[in-house]
Amino acid sequence: MYEYFLDEWEDYGPLAMEEVRRYLNRTKRSRELHHKITDYIPYGVNSNTRYYHPYPIYFTKASGTRIWDVDENEYIDFNMGYGTLMVGHANPILVEELKNQLENGMLYTYPYDLLEELADIIPEQFDIDMFRFSNSGSEAVMFAIRLARAFTGRDKIVKLEGSYHGTYDYMLVSTFPSWGLMGPRRFPLSVVESLGVPDLVEDYTIIVPFNNVEALKMVLEEEADEIAAFIIEPVMMNCGIIPPKNNYLRNVKKLSREYDILLIFDEVKTAMRAHPGTAAQLFGVEPDLITMAKAIGGGASISLLGGDEDIMSLIAPGERPARPSVMHAGTYNANPFALRSLYVTLTEILTEDAYPKMLKLNKMLKKGYQEIFNEFGINAYIETFGVSGTIIFSKRKVYDFRSYLKTNMDLWHPYYISMLNRGIIPMATGPEEMWTISVQHTEEDIIQHLEVARESARAITETHRFIKENW
Ligand SMILES: Cc1ncc(COP(=O)(O)O)c(C=O)c1O
Repeated sequence: MYEYFLDEWEDYGPLAMEEVRRYLNRTKRSRELHHKITDYIPYGVNSNTRYYHPYPIYFTKASGTRIWDVDENEYIDFNMGYGTLMVGHANPILVEELKNQLENGMLYTYPYDLLEELADIIPEQFDIDMFRFSNSGSEAVMFAIRLARAFTGRDKIVKLEGSYHGTYDYMLVSTFPSWGLMGPRRFPLSVVESLGVPDLVEDYTIIVPFNNVEALKMVLEEEADEIAAFIIEPVMMNCGIIPPKNNYLRNVKKLSREYDILLIFDEVKTAMRAHPGTAAQLFGVEPDLITMAKAIGGGASISLLGGDEDIMSLIAPGERPARPSVMHAGTYNANPFALRSLYVTLTEILTEDAYPKMLKLNKMLKKGYQEIFNEFGINAYIETFGVSGTIIFSKRKVYDFRSYLKTNMDLWHPYYISMLNRGIIPMATGPEEMWTISVQHTEEDIIQHLEVARESARAITETHRFIKENW
């Protein structure tokens, strides 16, 4: 199958083809493995986002900032599990604590006494009244939406064009729509993004552009009485990184009060990213419900749904006398292994004093990239949030999904392969993704990253030239 995908690379020109051939040579065992398992596992991956052309690399072990593939190539990892591993790989503190936990069992399916300690720290750390744990960001989002609907008695949800909130049917709308389908900028159409999601979802998920208070206001004016909530990433982190404009979040909150809908902050990516707390705290805007996952768990499958007591207390087993309750359950929810991992991460690793070094390294990486762009005349800039950053292949500042689509995403692919060929996983897979600095990254890691980025600059400039001259 990979031969077929090589055709895609020809469009990027001879240098990109040279890099792909080099990739094929150094990842033979990955190719073999991929070939074999694609007969059984669609595309050879268990999450669509892990696939890329011509085939993904398969890994065997990781430690610190290093990760090794099946061909015994070593990489410095700046993906860090899509930002989940701010603790770094196999963090020694976690390894020790989790070994102890395993000896005491990894699944009880009964409440675990560690919850007492978590009840002492979580509400204060994240400014929430009550919380429940699940296993993934998608689940937390699904439960947040269920709660919002239950609380308001309305069914429609407003979400941003281009935002990704996981795999819940109602959220698989306009996550990355194509130009032909998306309708006018101020009134985007709802585009279902997966086969198998019923068309009726389009009627329940309303799409608005980011950083545009007027567009949100128009939707609310028209149909607020059918809308349960507006769900938003306070910083968009699934089409590069797009910060909110001045006062946008404050105005969104104001509108949500004016029109009496709930505000849900999906902080699966933004929580813990810039400080040991949420983006809500950073921007001083308090949502009604908040979802978190990724970095909070130190790599374990755990997510958190939190919010105000009046909403959260709708979650209850069985029927209440006065009103029916909201279902929230899961065999693996708050299992001792994941709970211990989260507890240790929050209390011993991602503490206040861990941040200055990570933030400094991220600044260093940003500055280094900007120097490379200047030196090679590449039209790109770096956008960061906290310990993460990404390359936006454009000179103009991106402010919503459509402006993001106008960036030169094609240049990302040769850049990425060229970096991999030289032992650096520069970021998570896909131009819309980002890198994450962990507590285990060092200045030396950043220096090596930048050295390789300088070597890879030619892959970018040559591809750009080729596309300009030939397309
Ligand atoms: C903002 C946001 N919400 C939800 C999710 C879904 O999380 P998970 O992959 O843990 O289901 C993601 C995943 O990347 C995300 O970025």
